[in-house]
Amino acid sequence: MLNPKSYQEVNEEINNYYSIKEKNIWRNNFHIEAPFGLINDPNGLNYYDNKFHIFYQWNPFGCEHKTKHWALVTTTDFVNFTRPKVVLKPEDWFDKNGCYSGCGVVKGDDLKLYYTGNVRNSNNERESYQCIATYHKDGTLEKEGVIIQKQPDGYTAHFRDPYVFVKDEQDYMVLGVQTEGLKGKALIYNSRNSKEWKLLGELKTNMHDFGYMWECPNMIKLYEDKYVFVFSPQGLESEEFKYQNIYQSGYVIGNLDLEKVELRNHTEFKELDMGFDFYAPQVFKYEDKNILIGWIGMPDKDSEYPTSEKGWIYSLTLPRVLEYKDNVLYQKPFDKLGGLRQTQELQIENYVCDEYNLELNSKGKEIMLNLDMTKDAKLEIKLKFNDEYILLTYDKKAEVFIIDRTNMSLGGKGIRKFKLKAEEELKLHMFIDSSVIEIYYQDGLEVTTLMYFPKEEQLEIQIKNDYEIKIKELSMWNLRSVSYEE
Ligand code: FRU
Repeated sequence: MLNPKSYQEVNEEINNYYSIKEKNIWRNNFHIEAPFGLINDPNGLNYYDNKFHIFYQWNPFGCEHKTKHWALVTTTDFVNFTRPKVVLKPEDWFDKNGCYSGCGVVKGDDLKLYYTGNVRNSNNERESYQCIATYHKDGTLEKEGVIIQKQPDGYTAHFRDPYVFVKDEQDYMVLGVQTEGLKGKALIYNSRNSKEWKLLGELKTNMHDFGYMWECPNMIKLYEDKYVFVFSPQGLESEEFKYQNIYQSGYVIGNLDLEKVELRNHTEFKELDMGFDFYAPQVFKYEDKNILIGWIGMPDKDSEYPTSEKGWIYSLTLPRVLEYKDNVLYQKPFDKLGGLRQTQELQIENYVCDEYNLELNSKGKEIMLNLDMTKDAKLEIKLKFNDEYILLTYDKKAEVFIIDRTNMSLGGKGIRKFKLKAEEELKLHMFIDSSVIEIYYQDGLEVTTLMYFPKEEQLEIQIKNDYEIKIKELSMWNLRSVSYEE
């Protein structure tokens, strides 16, 4: 396949993009996105060489799911980033139709990148090869080729997204796969030298019939044999308060027995994000923290996002720290994000009113809102852009939170509903960017990510209730735009 541009032209286009100051109104200020083309899953996340390395799936040639490369940005603070650069190119026989998702593991001075080579053979059938490449501190990379040839017997060629974790000085790899009976599963491999991999077996769980494919698995240690298994199942049927997107991303927590290849006594699957636009998250370790970054987007829904007409599509979430408590994960904004705060524009405590209106003069904001909920309440928070709006409602008695995007004229519409308890107080922590809003609820027990494409820049937030509103705390910061330096 002939690429429409040379890599030199891609590099020139990247530099041109960052030298132009005027940006489209939907260009985000502090979310990672590509200057052009399509970005999807975060890959190879690592703290390596004293920098956060954030690789991601990138098609630099257009806004379609084609010609997937790995691009890289690095940062020490999530405020100053390096400009994206292409590091893995789909140029070899084993990855010619895409360098698909994977992970990174620090080995000595290098970062070993594991990924799936996607190939369409001469009969136009899918073939999947698990591959390895070595990334060096000086930014150079060598592909070392295939480490796992195709899928084992009993599985289809939907076999991808290697995630390597280390236990007792051995490497283990978890891979997403589809059985010949069309069930989503994960396989575990083991290696002592990162080159030769032995299949240990299919991960036993109690999710026997749980979608037709599991993408992007992650295996994360909490303590001893307690692990979180994060994955993105496809094919779950939607329910009133669950699984409302076309595909899901979530986790179960259990006791991992690698000898028996089993995740025992695991919790029920819980979605990581109840919003509209979140998929394929990856988790990495930094100091003693597990940090998650997800893709803000959704496969097979590209037509809902109007920015492709402007030459780019999708972004990545802010980094979230995972905290384990009472058998669930709480997600908290990574504390380095404090560096985005420019000025505090508002700080209110213990304020009672009938209705509260807040004018926002720009869309780079962080807002912390804590409302008293001691009385039964039907709360409404409207994010208004002139005559368009997104409506957030909370019914305390029913314990239901609803996000309604039907009154936006561009972009995906519909509602998302989820269960949320707020006995004493309702706490929302919002990050509002030009076309992305991430909201953390009740200290991160739930999170929602959504994209929105208002026609107007101006934004007003209206808070209403069926009785008075008691604001326990309302704080707002103006957030700076991140920079991308050469
Ligand atoms: C998830 C996914 C992965 C695959 C990659 C290709 O969004 O479908 O399973 O490796 O995207 O870009």
